[in-house]
Amino acid sequence: MGNPTESTTSSLKSLEIGDDSDLRVHVFSSSSELLEKLQQSWSSVEKQPYPAMYSSVYGGIILDPAMMVIPIDDHMVHRGHGVFDTAIILDGYLYELDVHLDRFLRSASKAKISSPFPRSTLRSILIQLTATSKCKEGTLRYWLSAGPGDFLLSSAGCPTPAFYAVVIDQEVSQHKEGVKVITSNVPMKPPLFATMKNVNYLPNVLSVLEAEEKGAFASIWVDDAGYIAEGPNVNVAFITPEKELVMPLFDNILSGCTAKRLLELAPKLVDQGLLKGVTTKYLTVEEAKGAAEMMYVGSTLPVLPIIAWDDQPIGNGTVGELTMLVSDLLWDDMVSGPDTQRIPVTYVE
Ligand SMILES: Cc1ncc(COP(=O)(O)O)c(C=O)c1O
Repeated sequence: MGNPTESTTSSLKSLEIGDDSDLRVHVFSSSSELLEKLQQSWSSVEKQPYPAMYSSVYGGIILDPAMMVIPIDDHMVHRGHGVFDTAIILDGYLYELDVHLDRFLRSASKAKISSPFPRSTLRSILIQLTATSKCKEGTLRYWLSAGPGDFLLSSAGCPTPAFYAVVIDQEVSQHKEGVKVITSNVPMKPPLFATMKNVNYLPNVLSVLEAEEKGAFASIWVDDAGYIAEGPNVNVAFITPEKELVMPLFDNILSGCTAKRLLELAPKLVDQGLLKGVTTKYLTVEEAKGAAEMMYVGSTLPVLPIIAWDDQPIGNGTVGELTMLVSDLLWDDMVSGPDTQRIPVTYVE
């Protein structure tokens, strides 16, 4: 590893190289010229990945990707004063929309952000947006922001909070291959920030980049007391050598909708004699590394097997059988679970 001072100095020097005395920054003379430029950059894209966006600033649904923008003086952009959540779209249903929406509003309340609409309106906008997008498989992402107004810290000058949502057309499938993880050296967020899904994901981003630099897929956070916390945008679960499914308590981490659903469903595997028990508890690194199987759990996965951690195999270093049973349990719930879990979308043909 190089001397950090040396590498910083050389990267600053490389930024200085070049003679820009002739550089003339283009000024767009009209909105139509700008729009044409924005649309040009999308024209070469074969399949538009964002079929529809909603913005309360526009007051409707946008289909042109070139116009899927948010104001630069929105406090979510320049101060991180925003919260977000997601829901998976599968076979034309929105999976667990209501639990995600409840967490979204809890996050907003912790972040002192109000909503421009009541919960029922937010829900209806999200369902109509999905219908308009015609997307039957993908992700729905949505944000509540303090809103546009000025560039100060306080949101007192932002007259109206903003609600944004976008549909992302992407494949959703089960994961059958295992990945390698590392213990993150990036400090984890303190509980106030870790328990709300706010837009400040820089620690999460840096912990993934650290993992990638070390040849791993992602990372595991361990808290100051030495207990297992979570992954960068996923929860983590273990199968002990005694065949118990164990997850860390949610006091200091994000209360994962998928992990919570798994706690409701997994007792079925206990009834079938496949698991000995299901529990949440404080889990030390030593206990966790001694697990027979390990997995990430999160709405976009729903389960991703982990086969090695800090270059040591988990169990026998292959994808665990019980991990795949847990994965099947969640997947079945996503594709054929009860009506309470799957909200049907009526598509406009
Ligand atoms: C930090 C963090 N932990 C855990 C999760 C998993 O939560 P969910 O199952 O609701 O996707 C997420 C994703 O939302 C997350 O960002």
